[in-house]
Amino acid sequence: MSKQRVLTGITTSGTPHLGNYVGAIRPAVATSQKTDVESFYFLADYHALIKCNKPDEVHRSTLEIAASWIALGLDTDNAIFYRQSDIPQIPELTWFLNCMAAKGLMNRAHAYKASVQDNEAAGEDADFGITMGLFSYPVLMAADILMFNAHQIPVGRDQIQHVEMARDIAQRFNHHYGEHFTLPQALVDDDVALLQGLDGRKMSKSYGNTIPLFLTEKQLKKHINKIKTNLLEPGEPKDPDSSSVFQIWQAFATPEQTAAMREEFAKGIAWGEAKKQLFELVNAELTPARERYEALMKAPAEIEAILQAGAQRARALSQPFMDKVRRAVGIRPLA
Ligand code: TRP
Repeated sequence: MSKQRVLTGITTSGTPHLGNYVGAIRPAVATSQKTDVESFYFLADYHALIKCNKPDEVHRSTLEIAASWIALGLDTDNAIFYRQSDIPQIPELTWFLNCMAAKGLMNRAHAYKASVQDNEAAGEDADFGITMGLFSYPVLMAADILMFNAHQIPVGRDQIQHVEMARDIAQRFNHHYGEHFTLPQALVDDDVALLQGLDGRKMSKSYGNTIPLFLTEKQLKKHINKIKTNLLEPGEPKDPDSSSVFQIWQAFATPEQTAAMREEFAKGIAWGEAKKQLFELVNAELTPARERYEALMKAPAEIEAILQAGAQRARALSQPFMDKVRRAVGIRPLA
């Protein structure tokens, strides 16, 4: 049997934060080093255009995300690391899939439905502000996945539906034109922490409660000090399970360190002390990568070269595959 293919994309809007690190980057870096799977990681810059119309932000985010992943040890010799927009076959396949995807299926996509509901709640026209990009976002994502016949797609819970849509579209295409596409499966790791943000809700750019991944030590300390806590005094027992400080601790600590901190909470550790220890733990894990990150941010040409090498490897697969798909639908030379 051929190797399992694992593939995932990162939308290039925003600055990577600790939640991205714990939930996506750290597990991906580990997978990128495995030789018993083939892994694909890409910067989804076409997807970024759906939610961000600011050219400088899209560009800056692409640089920051690429630098972060490389600095954190993504194995770019083993895994294929590329930028979506460097693969012209992806938008080409998107069109083919658009012609197989049921509009009714897209009507059910959560992201689109949420926008419609917001409009209705605000008394606007249902389509107000909704672009075709947002509406057909799952088709572009299907092309990302199906292009490389990926088996497993590590994603957050909010993306499971999109992977299932990719599966649906693939099935329909295969039924019509023959078995071209592998049916992908979402891979949601329950052990991976969903990090809480400064205010105790899920850490997310849209809530403005994130701790960016690569801050100076001083800024990192400042952010950690901003994590919301209750008013319990030093010496009063504290509940670790409802505390963001403890929850972030757990995402960085060994099981022994976690057990020890749990005991400290029972003994009434002061919030200031718990935060100081949390800063030291997180800082120790990030310091070596932070130095590499800063060096990479000053050498964008180095990052570009890595992405170009990755794109070349990706195109070596996408080009012949797309030729086959074009023929399958009846688009081929006349003689
Ligand atoms: N839509 C995904 C997100 O916002 C990013 C993404 C784009 C993706 N293409 C993909 C993820 C393909 C997995 C596979 O998180």
